[in-house]
Amino acid sequence: MDLAPATADAPAPSTTDPLWWRSAVIYQLYIRSFADGDGDGTGDLAGVRAHLDYLKQLGVDALWFTPWYASPLADGGYDVSDYRSIHPAFGELAEAEALIREALALGIRTIIDVVPNHVSNEHEWFAAALAAGRGSPGRERFWFVDTPPNNWVSNFQGGTWTQVDDGQWYLHLFTPEQPDLNWNHPDVRREHEDVLRFWFDRGVAGVRIDSAALLVKHPALPEVTGQEGPGEHPNTDRDEVHDIYRSWRAVADSYPGTRVLVGEVWMPDPVRFTNYLRADEMHTAFNFDFMTRPWRGSELRESIDSMLAAHAPVGAPSTWVLSNHDVTRTVTRYGREDSSFAFAAKRFGTPTDLELGTRRARAAALLSAALPGSLYIYQGDELGLPEVEDLPHSARQDPMHFRSNGVDPGRDGCRVPLPWAGTLPPYGFSPSTEQPWLPQPTDWALYTVEAEAADPASMLSLYRSALALRRTLQGDESFTWLGSDPDVLCFARGGGFVSVTNLSDRPIDLPEHEEFLLSSADLVAGQLPPDATAWLTAQH
Ligand code: NOJ
Repeated sequence: MDLAPATADAPAPSTTDPLWWRSAVIYQLYIRSFADGDGDGTGDLAGVRAHLDYLKQLGVDALWFTPWYASPLADGGYDVSDYRSIHPAFGELAEAEALIREALALGIRTIIDVVPNHVSNEHEWFAAALAAGRGSPGRERFWFVDTPPNNWVSNFQGGTWTQVDDGQWYLHLFTPEQPDLNWNHPDVRREHEDVLRFWFDRGVAGVRIDSAALLVKHPALPEVTGQEGPGEHPNTDRDEVHDIYRSWRAVADSYPGTRVLVGEVWMPDPVRFTNYLRADEMHTAFNFDFMTRPWRGSELRESIDSMLAAHAPVGAPSTWVLSNHDVTRTVTRYGREDSSFAFAAKRFGTPTDLELGTRRARAAALLSAALPGSLYIYQGDELGLPEVEDLPHSARQDPMHFRSNGVDPGRDGCRVPLPWAGTLPPYGFSPSTEQPWLPQPTDWALYTVEAEAADPASMLSLYRSALALRRTLQGDESFTWLGSDPDVLCFARGGGFVSVTNLSDRPIDLPEHEEFLLSSADLVAGQLPPDATAWLTAQH
C-alpha cells in the first residue's frame, strides 16, 4: 500500500486561532460506547481521559460529545433531565471539567451537545408542570392542550400527543419521554442561554445544537397540509427560529476565543439550510446532503457543487460528514446496492458487500478530508467498523426501532462499543470482562485499535496518515474542479493540493503531478483503481 508515513513534524493544532473551526477535524464521541473506565460496561469520562492520547495521535482538533447529562436515557441521552450535571454512569462534573482542560492541553477542543427542542419527562420543569395541574404557569413552558389540535407525526413514527392523568395532552415531536418546550416562553429562552454560559464558563469551545430547526411552533399548532411555503411549516424551519440563534451567537461572542454554534439542521433546500449560517447566527451546520447521497460520481459532484454554492453567499464553510450515531455505518452503507441513506428506507436483511463498502469508505474518507471546510468523524469509522445488524432483540434500546413496531432496525447497530484490544469481547472496552451495554460481535478482533495500529494497510493507519497530511496541506479554502468526467472527482485546493477519486469501473491515469502523497488503495500499474482516492501535489 502506498501510504505516506504520518508526518512526525506536522505542526501542533493551534488553540489560539480564532478561525480554528473553519477547517477543523472534529471527532464525534458517543460516550456510552467509547471506552469504559470503571468497568460497569458503559463508556464514561474516565475512559475518554484514559484515551486522549489515541485522539491526539489520530490528529483531531476537537471532540463533539453526544449528550453526557443526567438522563433516563429513553433516547440515548437526548432526553436531558438536568443540563448542568453529568450522567452518573459517565462520571461527575469535576471530571468533565478536568477532561476539557486535559484535552485542550493536547490541542483538542471540546464541543458539547445541547438539546433545546425538548427535555426529559423527568426534568424538574416537566415534573412541576404535571404536579401543578391544568392551567398552571408551569404548563406554559410546554405545549399542554385539552384536545390535540393536529395529527402531527412523530419523527420517530406514531403520534406526537400524550395524555396525562388530568386529561390534558402534551406535545412531543419525538418520544413521549421528550416533551417539547414552548420557545415563546421567556423562561425557556433564559434557561438555555444560562446553560450555554454554564458550559462556556467551563471552557467548552462550542455546542452542537440538536434538532435545531424544530424549536419554534406555529402558535395555533395547525395541521400539516404539505402545501406550506418556505417558513410556513407549523413545526419546522419557521422564520422566527433564527432569532434564537442570533441571541445564542451574542452569548457565544461574549466569550474570548471562538465558541462555535454547530447546527443539526435537516433541510432539503440548501438556501433555507444556509440561512442558519448567516454571519450573526451559527458558525456551521452538518451537511447531510453529502452524507445521504449514493456512491456515484454525478451525485457526489452535484452535492459538492450545490453545498459549496449555497455556503458561499453567507461566508460559512461547509462541513463534511460520512456518518453519525443516527445513520448506517459508512462501510455497510457503501457496500449496498442502494448506497444512499434515508431513515425511512432502513430495513433488516439488506445485503451488503463489506469488502466493497470498505474500499469505498476509504476512498470517501480521503475525498471528504480533501474538501474545503470542517470534517466530522464518527467514532469507529476510523476503524472501519460495520453496522452491527444482528443485535439480539433483548439488547436493543432505540425508540426508533420500537416505535416502528420493529420494522425499522433503529440506530443501535452503529452505537456498539469500540473494540480496543485483544481477541474477544469486550476487546479492552472495559477493564474487566464485564460485557458492554450493547454486545459486540465475536468477529471484531481485526477491528481493534491494537490490531489496526499495527497494520499499515488498516483504516486506522489511513486516517492517521490522512489527518496528519491534511494539517500540512490546508491552505486557503479555494476549490477548483479539474476535468469533467462525471465518474472522476478530481479537484485542486489552495496550495497545490490535488485529490482524485475514481468512481468509474476501470482504472484511470493519475493527473499530472509533482508528488504522490497518499492513496486509499494500491495503484495498479501506476493507475488508480476503481473506488479509490489519491492525494497529490500539483505540478508547478
Ligand atoms: C437528533 C439526534 O442526533 C438524535 O440522536 C435524537 O434522537 C434526536 N435528535 C432527538 O433529540
